[in-house]
Amino acid sequence: MELNEIAKKMCEKGKGILAADESTGTIAKRFKSINVDNLEQNRLNFRQTLFNSSAMKNYIGGVILFDETIRQTTTLGLTIPELISKHGVIPGIKVDKGAKPMAGSNDETITEGLDGLRERLKEYYKLGARFTKWRAVYKIGNDFPSKQSIKSNAHALARYAALVQESKMVPIIEPEVLMDGSHNIDKCYDVTTDVLNECYNELNTHKVDLKGTVLKPNMIIPGIDCKEKSSAEQIAKKTLDCLKKNVPSEVPGIAFLSGGQTEIESSKNLNEINKINDTSFLITFSYGRGLQASALKEFGKDQKNTENIQKAFNHRAKMNGLSSKGEWSEKLEKDSAA
Ligand code: 13P
Repeated sequence: MELNEIAKKMCEKGKGILAADESTGTIAKRFKSINVDNLEQNRLNFRQTLFNSSAMKNYIGGVILFDETIRQTTTLGLTIPELISKHGVIPGIKVDKGAKPMAGSNDETITEGLDGLRERLKEYYKLGARFTKWRAVYKIGNDFPSKQSIKSNAHALARYAALVQESKMVPIIEPEVLMDGSHNIDKCYDVTTDVLNECYNELNTHKVDLKGTVLKPNMIIPGIDCKEKSSAEQIAKKTLDCLKKNVPSEVPGIAFLSGGQTEIESSKNLNEINKINDTSFLITFSYGRGLQASALKEFGKDQKNTENIQKAFNHRAKMNGLSSKGEWSEKLEKDSAA
């Protein structure tokens, strides 16, 4: 498949991406919140339960995996990439090695993982991956994000994306402006504008074919401790405006991260964005917590209760599938959960 076709399939109307690529450290935090030991077997059990849900076929276009997961064989006999592909879903892989402290800047990070990436990509392709993810992280504060953080993270994202396309996979470009802090929605808009601009400058310099990429941005929302709350309509308007002004129209798909929004907020905001989407972008979800929080709770209650875990996941996937078409509503949310 051509890169552009893969990108469009990942973000197809009515579908989105399941971000199940939590590193062993991040999944440890999620499991701690439900009192589950962070053992390889438990990680496999939770993930294979999700990947074998009925929602996969209708509402999920791609799944982002972690290095450990792409190599695992399920208790059903199939490997994880085979199980995902069986439902017509595209397997993908997180290839960055995490956000590390940035030399010369206090409290900011640079995402690492470029060394040896070309060789790792060859292996991931053989294991079945057809797209990849790299996440850059930007903090908002009095002195943040610095020019240094904006420039060096964009540079790394572009070098990553060029290598991924050389390996015939679609790079997800994820510049995440964190929602931590008390900044207002306009500050988030301004910082995201600067971040996106620098990313597309660098992607251009590195000759990345934008038609074969997917952008995974944050929504334009106020900081979590901001006193001025914004409505879903305001968030949608500012988010779409920021994307229209700063993302080249060749980009086929934009799949948001949930970034600490609740499950309902992330469905509602995505829905509002799609209600007013007058662009050519396929706009959808690439949620981790936004898709898995309820399922994770069920897993914490009883790891063996596959039915309840899948029910919770199926519901969220369906709701976000509706939001990707602007067809979600509070009523459907309640009726479908009942
Ligand atoms: P959240 O949706 O939980 O923010 O996770 C998405 C993701 O992949 C972050 O890198």
